[in-house]
Amino acid sequence: MSAEVPEIKYLFRPRSVAVVGASGTPGKIGYSLMSNILSSGYEGEVYPINPKGGEILGRPVYKSIEDVPGEVDIALIAVPASLVKSVVQSCARKKVRFLPIITSGFSEVGNIQEEREIVEIARSAGMRIIGPNMFGIFTAAASLNATFGPRDIMPGGVAIITQSGALGIAMIGKSAVEHVGLSTIISVGNKSDIDEADLLEYLAEDGLTRAILIYMEGVHDGPRLLSVLKHVTRVKPVVVIKSGRSKRGAMAAASHTGSLAGSDEVFDAVMRQAGVLRADSIQDAFEWSKFLASAPLPQGRNTVIVTNGGGVGVLATDACERFGVKLYDDAQRLHEIFDEMTPSFGSTKNPIDITGQASADDYVAALKAAAEAEEIHAALALYCETAVFDVNSMEQMIERMDAEFRSHGKPVLFALLGGEKIETCIAGLRAKGVAVFGDVYSCVGSLGALYRQYEFRRRPPAEVETASIDVSACEAVIANALSEGRNFLLAHEGRALMEATGVPMPKSRVVRSIGEAVEAAEEIGYPVVLKIVSRDILHKSDAGGVALDLENKGEVLDAYQAIIHNAKRYKPDARIDGVEVAEMLKPGLETIVGARIDRTFGPTLMFGLGGIYVEVMKDVAFRALPLSRWEVMSMLQEIRTYPLLLGVRGEDPKDIDLVVDTLIRLGTLLLSCKEISDIEINPLVVYEKGEGVRSVDVRVLLHNA
Ligand code: ACO
Repeated sequence: MSAEVPEIKYLFRPRSVAVVGASGTPGKIGYSLMSNILSSGYEGEVYPINPKGGEILGRPVYKSIEDVPGEVDIALIAVPASLVKSVVQSCARKKVRFLPIITSGFSEVGNIQEEREIVEIARSAGMRIIGPNMFGIFTAAASLNATFGPRDIMPGGVAIITQSGALGIAMIGKSAVEHVGLSTIISVGNKSDIDEADLLEYLAEDGLTRAILIYMEGVHDGPRLLSVLKHVTRVKPVVVIKSGRSKRGAMAAASHTGSLAGSDEVFDAVMRQAGVLRADSIQDAFEWSKFLASAPLPQGRNTVIVTNGGGVGVLATDACERFGVKLYDDAQRLHEIFDEMTPSFGSTKNPIDITGQASADDYVAALKAAAEAEEIHAALALYCETAVFDVNSMEQMIERMDAEFRSHGKPVLFALLGGEKIETCIAGLRAKGVAVFGDVYSCVGSLGALYRQYEFRRRPPAEVETASIDVSACEAVIANALSEGRNFLLAHEGRALMEATGVPMPKSRVVRSIGEAVEAAEEIGYPVVLKIVSRDILHKSDAGGVALDLENKGEVLDAYQAIIHNAKRYKPDARIDGVEVAEMLKPGLETIVGARIDRTFGPTLMFGLGGIYVEVMKDVAFRALPLSRWEVMSMLQEIRTYPLLLGVRGEDPKDIDLVVDTLIRLGTLLLSCKEISDIEINPLVVYEKGEGVRSVDVRVLLHNA
């Protein structure tokens, strides 16, 4: 049974810290922890624990944590794995609040049972565990460096949560080199108890933290992480680096939706859905976090580039397109704003080219005009080293312009290209926290990250949308399949499910004789399609069990016999439940829609165009449920082939509303009927606006009966 959990603020603002396994031997982790804690300016109590007693770094050593006179908010554990359990038991008796367990040798090497036992002991005593297999915690709020990483950590606005200990320690070093001030850095190790979501909840409210960087290897509780992230990103930027973009982790599955939903594709989509910025490299993650922690959020999308070089201006323009930065293009207004400081051989068309002869004063004039112009919301200032510009005045000019833009609440970023003096200038300015870069791409990439944050904050609050569906009719169909020991639905059952869900299907009937087949075809109207219905044949086309475009009675008679014959040859013992006679649909745009339980994020939706688009280009989008109508719509817009839905080359637009409606209905079905693991409509044929959609083939898998 779990006892009441301690407030997480005591992890970040502990009043006392114990080190179990504290050591007086330099080079040992228990020594480094003590030495870092004592030199970090921490004002709370520090208790070294070691059965040998004595003193470590001038502090009296307690032989057991239970001997400590006062309360203990944090007990760092750095004893060998074989001793951890008994130490945790001692901590439980002492009623310690948080246990960051540094020690390795638990679930990461297969020792899962012992890790579980330790968590159990902690939970029943109202303690929380961080790790095991982690490097400790730095928290600026308490001036506490309780890590065995580098000693000096610059306080600031970026919080780092890392799953990898070694990478985390490297990031402490990197944060010093890159002048990234940290509000906290904490490693979560094996995440046996506390995970990213617990820490994010605190960091969202933390006054010191202005941006959050997470390094993640795996996700434990996807739905919870998503719901916490959706909240945090509304108030603070979150940058994630996740390893595992490769395909190896992709799950083999019995449907397109499953095989396309490689864990990384879904992770990527869900992060975007939550407004998280996913970085490919640690470098980008640092650049973005540092910039986002101090940049004002722009009030609009209009960006100008001010440059002394045409070439670099073009490079930046390309980068703006790539990173979604919109260049202001009102030629007349741009001319009015920038004409005065632009030579006749320059250009006031964005990029504003103040030419190679530009001096510091010219930059000041152009940038001041940009800062003051109401229509301009952000600026990129590019500089290529020239002999006419006095580099000695560069640093001062940039600081002045940085302050000018801040006073207007607008972001400005600088990219400087040149030799040694320029590099020194960049280093000096970066140390002061000015957004200066030595490369156009990372400069524009950082502004792009800020604009993604801007877009996310402007999204309407997500109001979950569900459809009205006949859940009891759906449950009845599912119960029947399960009672027969099946984990999939037969064609007519899939059809009944879609009818109860309100997804439009072509007219159809299942028949059991050749005479009935002709009767049904005449009732439905030619042309018709015939399909084998057998619980033992999932892939009907492979079995020769499908005949299309049958125009008359004669063709139906021939096709019926051929289908039965093919099915028996394909699988002699297959049980034939009948033949489906269906309306032959007129051509439309073939799409694929899916709803499935993702291993990490639970219920998810997928949408893409069908046929070659899905087979070859894998042009699909994912979202985790529940979703607002707006979020479903954004999923359609995300695929590269979205223009085909809008209509190309004079075609009328397609019935996008009905596609959105179908996705919402499938999502509602998946959330309502817990027995379903996988639904896929392939194809869902989409007609022109007002003419709706038709679900041609639906495949439904159930959790194993
Ligand atoms: N209570 C308190 N202290 C104890 C106890 C006890 N019950 N029993 C022993 N100790 C003392 C030891 O006497 C020793 O102190 P000493 O130097 O005065 O003798 C101290 O605890 C440490 O014990 P050692 O046996 O010396 O263990 P050592 O320091 O070699 O290793 C450690 C312990 C660091 C926890 C090791 O087992 C380990 O897990 N190392 C990996 C840590 C790691 O990499 N974590 C992962 C994240 S960070 C990253 O990946 C970079």
